[in-house]
Amino acid sequence: MATAIPLRFMASPLRDRRARALTDLRISVIDRCNFRCPYCMPEEDYPRDHEFLSKDQRLRFEEIARLATVFAGLGVRKLRLTGGEPLLRRDLPELVRQLAGVPGIDDIAMTSNGSLLPRHAEALRKAGLDRITLSIDALDAQVYRRLSGGRGEVGDVLAAIDAAGTAGFGPLKLNCVVMRGINDGEVEPLVERFRGSGHVLRFIEYMDVGTCNDWRGDLVVPSTELRERIARRWPLQPLARAHGSDVAERWRFVEGGGEIGFISSVSEPFCGDCSRARLSADGRLYTCLFARQGHDLRGPLRAGAGDAELAAIIAAVWRARDDRYSELRGAAVRGARSRVEMYEIGG
Ligand code: GTP
Ligand code: 5AD
Ligand code: SF4
Ligand code: SF4
Repeated sequence: MATAIPLRFMASPLRDRRARALTDLRISVIDRCNFRCPYCMPEEDYPRDHEFLSKDQRLRFEEIARLATVFAGLGVRKLRLTGGEPLLRRDLPELVRQLAGVPGIDDIAMTSNGSLLPRHAEALRKAGLDRITLSIDALDAQVYRRLSGGRGEVGDVLAAIDAAGTAGFGPLKLNCVVMRGINDGEVEPLVERFRGSGHVLRFIEYMDVGTCNDWRGDLVVPSTELRERIARRWPLQPLARAHGSDVAERWRFVEGGGEIGFISSVSEPFCGDCSRARLSADGRLYTCLFARQGHDLRGPLRAGAGDAELAAIIAAVWRARDDRYSELRGAAVRGARSRVEMYEIGG
């Protein structure tokens, strides 16, 4: 689908202080999740008295679609629905249907843990969802269970992969967050299982996002280490990134079987081209995954702001943007206790 829509609110493309454009919007539709992955919402550290957003606090679908229209007018072309777990939001296909009608948007994707996908895949596809990314951190049933905080079954995500195919989705991206000593033994079995399937498996370095995952550097398995391990069994050759702002480095199997990806935000940060904004379920705009606070858009929206006014607010936030947390990791910003949580902005 060609993008024939001009930038409605800007004479020239919007750029932040590092000359980065705004092209992707990641929309968290709910802050709840049915999993408790240790790298995101660990059961033991997770504040049990945590109050999730109420229905009134969350943006309604019409409000999300309205904001998406304004973002599209500022240059956004790709939307990604996230959570928490996005499929916990009732009637999600209806939101997809509304977003698919937003002029200028040519790609709508969703990142999910897959557990609820089989019952929604067809409706999502019919509503206009283009792509799905699923998390699969292990193939072994016990290890998978541990990485979902005892809530998920690997058979369910495998069923979700099949359901996506049946519903007409093309190849999926499959995300695996690797933690040393916990699931790093799952890497080869995962490669073996998905090589040649058409799906693109991506290994993600465990990141110090949020405040509750007790991140430690020694739990990170650097991508180079993993890649060398994988290449010993399946020789690999680098591929160019499809888009400069993509998060994954791509490698193809020399002997055939498609490609795999590595998301190295700890060992090789990719802030230089970061074109992603994030909208939390309660309508806050975050300009970085590691931001301390978001900028409220729900207030002006509910107070009756017009599209041009909303566009001006968003443009001002983006123009002031200077974030490059992953590049500065280790410097003064580390250890902040007020950072946004991953389940609030969906990774
Ligand atoms: P597309 O480019 O739309 O295909 O999506 P994606 O690959 O960015 O989506 P996905 O949700 O699968 O992102 C993969 C993972 O990469 C996220 O869950 C994060 O763990 C990480 N990631 C994505 N964007 C960023 C980012 O801007 N900064 C950092 N540090 N990590 C990111
Ligand atoms: N480090 C790296 N990736 C993470 N994700 C969630 N928390 C972390 C973390 N601490 C990933 C999930 C999923 C996506 C939404 O974000 O595994 O693929
Ligand atoms: Fe795991 Fe995603 Fe849920 Fe976080 S939001 S606990 S990463 S399934
Ligand atoms: Fe973008 Fe922030 Fe991630 Fe850097 S750390 S790539 S600026 S979201």
